[in-house]
Amino acid sequence: MEIHVITAFPQTLIGPLSDSMLKRAQDRGIARFFLHDLREFGLGKHKQLDDYPYGGGAGMILKPEPIFACVEKVRETHRVDCPLTYLSPTGSVFNQKLAVEVSFRSHLFLLCGHYKGIDERVRQALVGEEISIGDYVLTGGELAALVVADAVVRLLPGVMSDIDSADTDSFQTGLLDHPHYTRPESFRDMSVPSVLLSGNHQEIANWRREQSLEITRNKRMDLYKKYMDL
Ligand code: ADE
Repeated sequence: MEIHVITAFPQTLIGPLSDSMLKRAQDRGIARFFLHDLREFGLGKHKQLDDYPYGGGAGMILKPEPIFACVEKVRETHRVDCPLTYLSPTGSVFNQKLAVEVSFRSHLFLLCGHYKGIDERVRQALVGEEISIGDYVLTGGELAALVVADAVVRLLPGVMSDIDSADTDSFQTGLLDHPHYTRPESFRDMSVPSVLLSGNHQEIANWRREQSLEITRNKRMDLYKKYMDL
């Protein structure tokens, strides 16, 4: 998968992309990231990117010219023809289902907003879809782009060592994940539930399912009702 990100703050992405799963995916040639620095397309001597809103009010707006120029350059230079995804609190809320859908695409083209948002003409003419990572406002789309990229890239075949691992994720099944334990068997007077040591795979599967149901019912009644079709 090729992931192109347009951002005025590429440094914010470099650390997380150089570590752990996202690094492994790149090392294995499964995902390639391209960071496109919006500042290079800024206007004038000061490489201006933002301006005051027409009609007044607080906050600065990203100007259309640098974004149009950058998007057109990326489309031309890298032959990217997939829709442009704008990270914004007004988008559809990202979830595991969307992560799975996106993981089947060959390209992702992400636009990070900043300040109060983008000039509406960018949305009208360039944006194909809008994604929010939750009902809160971040200072920019960079962290949201990382969240989306991380959730999607870990699903790509070959990234996680255990191919079944994603199938049992929280949300993948519609339920929250059950508890996990590793060695030692007893730690500070807390022991591993004996069923997990029994070697009885059917009993272990039953226990995990009961735990998932219980945890989901206690923590996320919305998911539980949906799952039980209530
Ligand atoms: N940019 C600012 N807030 C955001 C959010 N909640 N999701 C995606 N992008 C954003």
